[in-house]
Amino acid sequence: MQRLKNKTAIVTGAGRGIGAAIARRLSLEGASVVIAEIDPSEGLKTAKRIEKETTNPVLFIPTDVSRPHSVQAMEEQTRLAFGTADILVNNAGVAVFREPLASTKQDWDRCMSVDIEGVWSCCRAVLPAMLEKRDGAIINIISNHAFSIIKSTFPYPVAKHALLGLTRSLALEYADRGISINAISPGYTDTQIAENEFARAENPAQARAETEAKQPPGRLCRPDEIAAIAAMLASEEARFMIGENIVIDGGVSLRMYE
Ligand SMILES: NC(=O)c1ccc[n+]([C@@H]2O[C@H](COP(=O)([O-])OP(=O)(O)OC[C@H]3O[C@@H](n4cnc5c(N)ncnc54)[C@H](O)[C@@H]3O)[C@@H](O)[C@H]2O)c1
Repeated sequence: MQRLKNKTAIVTGAGRGIGAAIARRLSLEGASVVIAEIDPSEGLKTAKRIEKETTNPVLFIPTDVSRPHSVQAMEEQTRLAFGTADILVNNAGVAVFREPLASTKQDWDRCMSVDIEGVWSCCRAVLPAMLEKRDGAIINIISNHAFSIIKSTFPYPVAKHALLGLTRSLALEYADRGISINAISPGYTDTQIAENEFARAENPAQARAETEAKQPPGRLCRPDEIAAIAAMLASEEARFMIGENIVIDGGVSLRMYE
């Protein structure tokens, strides 16, 4: 389906994982895509791979979303290459998991600067042009940590709760000016973040099997399953959806007790 022809999309943290899957899907749907990624090797490699597959333009722009100047420069480069952004997917995120009192100021700052302040910086950078055009879609990738808590994952859920608040607050603010802002909350998704978690266990294969068994469908989410919903939210078909948070967690957050 080519629902995003002639659209410009920015996807942050799209060098790998969920972001890369979203960038690929938006490109398959016809958008010109910017991969705004901090890791130059992953960013470039992924941009080339997607462009080769879809034949639509994909541009890697080195970006650190935690630095407002870097975000501003990325928006300017996007504008020069493809015109102003029609779609922003705030996907870049870091999982900082600590026991609260064992966490440091650096842990807090790293998590907040990327997972919440980085999102706000990107929104600030693209919103003025979107408001001028009276057209735009912003999709924030949150987490089921935005409404459920696992012990000793601090301060990640604090940032993700805040991101839900940011989504809802901006969504209502700009709903009457042609902008739709929504979120997706993935559950356990098979990416490097998940792999790093398993690697920390004594027996990584067993840790993976145990985690898979805890998911109602008996497996982890695939990044392309998040990307499909992101493409729908980015399209004109979803413009009456305002401030929603679509949970894609295999039903984990529905469960009360085993
Ligand atoms: N994997 C999961 O189980 C899961 C579940 C729920 C939510 N999420 C969320 O989905 C998003 C993507 O997660 P993922 O699993 O694909 O992660 P990942 O670690 O595989 O990929 C994250 C990407 O973001 C980039 N990045 C990190 N800091 C950045 C910065 N300051 N500026 C620009 N890019 C930066 C990384 O280099 C990497 O390419 C995150 O926001 C995460 O919190 C993931």
